[in-house]
Amino acid sequence: MNALELLKTDHQKVKELFKKAEGNKNEKQQKQLFDQIKAELETHAHIEETIFYPAVAKNEDLKDMVLESLEEHKQVKTLLREMENLTSDSEKFEPKLKVLMENVEHHAVEEEEGKMFPKVRKFMKPAALDELGKELEAAKGKKVRKAS
Ligand SMILES: [Fe+2]
Ligand SMILES: [Fe+2]
Repeated sequence: MNALELLKTDHQKVKELFKKAEGNKNEKQQKQLFDQIKAELETHAHIEETIFYPAVAKNEDLKDMVLESLEEHKQVKTLLREMENLTSDSEKFEPKLKVLMENVEHHAVEEEEGKMFPKVRKFMKPAALDELGKELEAAKGKKVRKAS
């Protein structure tokens, strides 16, 4: 899988988890889904920040976009931390889950898939994107093993 396909597959997976979690009346299930979403997002952000974004930022035209993305990652991480610290019966959980979903959707779909990836496709050759995909996959495996 090339880098862009791999990242899009991650986005899709998180989107499906959000769909299952949103409006889920079973609190235990919702919390479990949130834990999964959190783990997926942390791994995804980690491989983007350490491998993908530095490669993308080599192109002068994309530097600002990478900086904006890093700020959006920070917002998402703040929300994840806040949610992690909420007690399970907090009425704030649902609204925060919704805001988290909206933030992730905006960042992953509008910013990355909509603006950044098409530009990346223009300046990186298919072979380079394949190579980057392999690096992302390896880093993902390492991160997941570390967490478990
Ligand atoms: Fe991102
Ligand atoms: Fe992403």
